[in-house]
Amino acid sequence: MNNELEKYTNQIIQGDCLELFKDIPDNLVDMTFADPPFNLKKKYTSYNDSLEFQEYLNWCEQWISEMVRVTKPTGSISLHNIPKWLTYYATFLNKFAHFKHWISWDAPTAPMGKSLQPAHYGILFYGKETKGTKIHELRYPHKRDRKQGFLLKDYGGKKDKLHPFGPLVSDVWTDIHRIKHNKKRDPHPCQLPIHLLDRLILLSTDEGDIVLDPFSGTGTTAISAKRLGRKYIGFELDAEYVEISKIKLEVVEPNFKLDKSWVSFYLNDLITIRDKDWNKLKEYFIVPEPMRTIDYKKTVLKDKKLIPKEKEVIYEVNNICKIDETRKNGKVIKQIETIKIDANNDFKSERKVVI
Ligand SMILES: C[S@@+](CC[C@H](N)C(=O)[O-])C[C@H]1O[C@@H](n2cnc3c(N)ncnc32)[C@H](O)[C@@H]1O
Repeated sequence: MNNELEKYTNQIIQGDCLELFKDIPDNLVDMTFADPPFNLKKKYTSYNDSLEFQEYLNWCEQWISEMVRVTKPTGSISLHNIPKWLTYYATFLNKFAHFKHWISWDAPTAPMGKSLQPAHYGILFYGKETKGTKIHELRYPHKRDRKQGFLLKDYGGKKDKLHPFGPLVSDVWTDIHRIKHNKKRDPHPCQLPIHLLDRLILLSTDEGDIVLDPFSGTGTTAISAKRLGRKYIGFELDAEYVEISKIKLEVVEPNFKLDKSWVSFYLNDLITIRDKDWNKLKEYFIVPEPMRTIDYKKTVLKDKKLIPKEKEVIYEVNNICKIDETRKNGKVIKQIETIKIDANNDFKSERKVVI
């Protein structure tokens, strides 16, 4: 790795991304991903999410330019937002980078008035150069009826020809849900599900590559990168979010792997694999025989113990409320946060950190 970048890698750095970008040299990052504030008046701890229309866009153009600048010629730039803002981003990005995909992530979004109910977010996926962008084909498990387990799509007489794991991932993602349970989310208004980032990282990076996220939040991109054996650089304005990310990153291991292949796990299952890894991975699965029985039989892992146990980091809710209150009152306090690291929902260990 280039020495110039080494001092920033595997770190979440607190500060304004426009300032922090100044230290990052040109053309060294494999993948940049941004999930910026959407200017929807969300309650962030230290960011005003309500700028004037043009002010917001001018600001976006500055950090988008920086993302393109630091990305390698073989690298990719991904921008997550509501479609309204992506239309402006695309017009701007088309001047400096190369359109590859508009990924539609099927997830309910905030109602925007008397119109069609918004039901997806977009992810603009651009290559730095026209040719040579690193992109891998991915697969996800066949979608099935929850109760009976039958394939949702009617493949007619073609079931014999189906891929045992599942179809190639298209540019419409319907199988990744937003974080529903408060237990699984940090005190952050719009944390992304990690397996969404797993999919993007598997799509456009390899082991050891560097992923940079200028709006790191509570560290979703960095955690995904670390558990997939990649390097990360995160920028985040809010000191508390930085602290939470660091705590979570400490318990994450680069273990999202089956044999030698990096894969994305979620809820005791595989969610995304690379097409080219299937030949190596298939020996770990029981594939339905004869193949047409895939209609009602899942391809399953032979041994579920191969799925790494996710260590859960749980914050004491009361402590987090107290931090909010004292900030509102203008007081700065140091508070001991108790964290329970819980593998498989069993209490495992407890330690204290100062926020
Ligand atoms: C939509 S959230 C990102 C959430 C993140 N993807 C996650 O899953 O946790 C946007 C984040 O950008 C941060 N932010 C806002 N302005 C910033 C700036 N100028 N530089 C760095 N971070 C900023 C906010 O504090 C917020 O955490």
